[in-house]
Amino acid sequence: QQSELNSFLWTIKRDPPSYFFGTIHVPYTRVWDFIPENSKKAFQHSHIVYFELDLTDPYTISALTSCQLLPQGENLQDVLPRDIYRRLKRHLEYVKLMMPSWMTPDQRGKGLYADYLFNAIAGNWERKRPVWVMLMVNSLTEVDIKSRGVPVLDLYLAQEAERLRKQTGAVEKVEEQCHPLNGLNFSQVIFALNQTLLQQESLRAGSLQTPYTTEDLIKHYNCGDLNSIIFSHDTSQVPNFINATLPPHERITAQEIDTYFRQELIYKRNERMGRRVKDLLEEYPDKSFFFAFGAGHFMGNNTVIDVLRREGYEVEHTPSGQPINNRKNPKTWSTFSSSSPAYTPYASAQELPRPPKEEEELLPHLLLPDSVDLLEKADRKYKKKKRKQQKKQRFRQFNDLWVRIEE
Ligand SMILES: *[C@@H]1O[C@H](CO)[C@@H](O)[C@H](O)[C@H]1NC(C)=O
Ligand SMILES: *[C@@H]1O[C@H](CO)[C@@H](O)[C@H](O)[C@H]1NC(C)=O
Ligand SMILES: *[C@@H]1O[C@H](CO)[C@@H](O)[C@H](O)[C@H]1NC(C)=O
Ligand SMILES: *[C@@H]1O[C@H](CO)[C@@H](O)[C@H](O)[C@H]1NC(C)=O
Repeated sequence: QQSELNSFLWTIKRDPPSYFFGTIHVPYTRVWDFIPENSKKAFQHSHIVYFELDLTDPYTISALTSCQLLPQGENLQDVLPRDIYRRLKRHLEYVKLMMPSWMTPDQRGKGLYADYLFNAIAGNWERKRPVWVMLMVNSLTEVDIKSRGVPVLDLYLAQEAERLRKQTGAVEKVEEQCHPLNGLNFSQVIFALNQTLLQQESLRAGSLQTPYTTEDLIKHYNCGDLNSIIFSHDTSQVPNFINATLPPHERITAQEIDTYFRQELIYKRNERMGRRVKDLLEEYPDKSFFFAFGAGHFMGNNTVIDVLRREGYEVEHTPSGQPINNRKNPKTWSTFSSSSPAYTPYASAQELPRPPKEEEELLPHLLLPDSVDLLEKADRKYKKKKRKQQKKQRFRQFNDLWVRIEE
C-alpha cells in the first residue's frame, strides 16, 4: 500500500519545486519497491540531480585514493600496536580463505571471482590509514559479501540520472568528507579497530550471532520507525561502538567517538551542504533540483532541512501518496542545457550529452555496496584512465608523425 510506505522525500517550496531525498548504502533492489511512487516521480521530473560527491570527476577519484593512504613510506605495521596488527592480518587471511564459500552462485554467474573481489576490497590494506582499514574490516562480513553485485541506492540513482541524461553535480569536496574521518585521534582509532576486530573474532568463534546491521537498516528504511540514530551511522560510515557490556572507561571512549562523528561528519557537513543547496537554488531559480544525500543528513538535530528553513525556505515532508506537482513544465534537455550551472568551486556540473564511457562498461558496478567500495572502484578507474591516457598519448605521437610524413 503506497500510503503505508516510509517517505524520505521533502519538498522545497518554490516554482518549480525542488526536492530532498534521503538515500542509504544498501543494494537498491532491497529497498526500491518500498520507495513511494511520488519520490520516484520527483526524481524523474527534476532537471538536475545533486549528490554528496561527484565520482565521475577524475580529481575526486585521485583525492579519495590518496586521502585513504598513510603518509609516503609508512606502513600499517609501523603504526599499529603489534597485537592489533597481528590480529588484523590473521583476520584478513581468514576472510580471504572464506571468501569463495561466502559468494553466491548468482555472483559467480556474473563472473565475480573471490580473489578479484578480495583484492578489490582489501588489496593494499597495509598502506591504508587505520580508520579506513577499520571500515574495510566492517564491510568484509559474509552478509556484506553476499550483497555485492548490485549497486547501492545512491549509486543506482546516479546511474539512473546518467541514463536519463539529467544534469548532475555534487555539493561536497572529497576533502570535506574524507578529512573528518582521518581526524579521529590515534587512541580513538585504535579503540575502534580493536572493537571491530573483537566483534569479528567473536563471529569467527561462533560466540556472536551475525549482527544484522545492514538488515536492520533495510527494515527501518522500508517500514520501520524513522530512527535517526540508525541512519546517522549509515551516513557517517562510522559504526556504533556504544555497547552495554563495555567497561566504564571504554564506554567513555565510545561516547567520545560518537560525539565526534556527530559533530564532524553530520552537523558540520549539514551546515555546509545546506548553504550550498541554498546557493544553487538562488543561482538557478528556474531549475528544479533533486538533492539525493544520505538519509542521516535529514534526520535528528541540525539537519540540512533546518539550515534551509533558517534561510527562509519552506521545506515540507512529502508523505507517500501526496501528488508531485511541478508547476513549470519540465523543459526538455536541449532547451535547458544552454543555461546549465557552470563550474563552481565545490561542484562540477557535467556537460551532457556525454559520450558513453568505455571504462564504465569494462567495470560494471559490481563491487559497490558502500562508499568504501566506491573508493576502491574509483582507484582502479583512475589507474585505468591513466593507462588509457598513456596509450592515447603514444597513439597521438604516432599519428603526429604520420601526418608529418604525409605533409
Ligand atoms: C583523543 O581524544 C580524546 C577525547 O578528546 C582525549 O581524551 C585523548 O587524550 C586523545 N588522545 C590522544 C592520543 O590524543
Ligand atoms: C582491546 O580491547 C580489549 C577488550 O576491551 C582490551 O582488553 C585490550 O587491551 C584492547 N587491546 C588494545 C591493543 O587496545
Ligand atoms: C560488546 O563489547 C564486547 C567487548 O568489547 C564484545 O565482546 C561484544 O561482542 C560486543 N557486543 C556487540 C553486540 O557488539
Ligand atoms: C537532539 O538534541 C536534543 C537536545 O539538545 C538532545 O536531547 C537529543 O539527544 C539530540 N538528538 C540526537 C539524535 O542527537
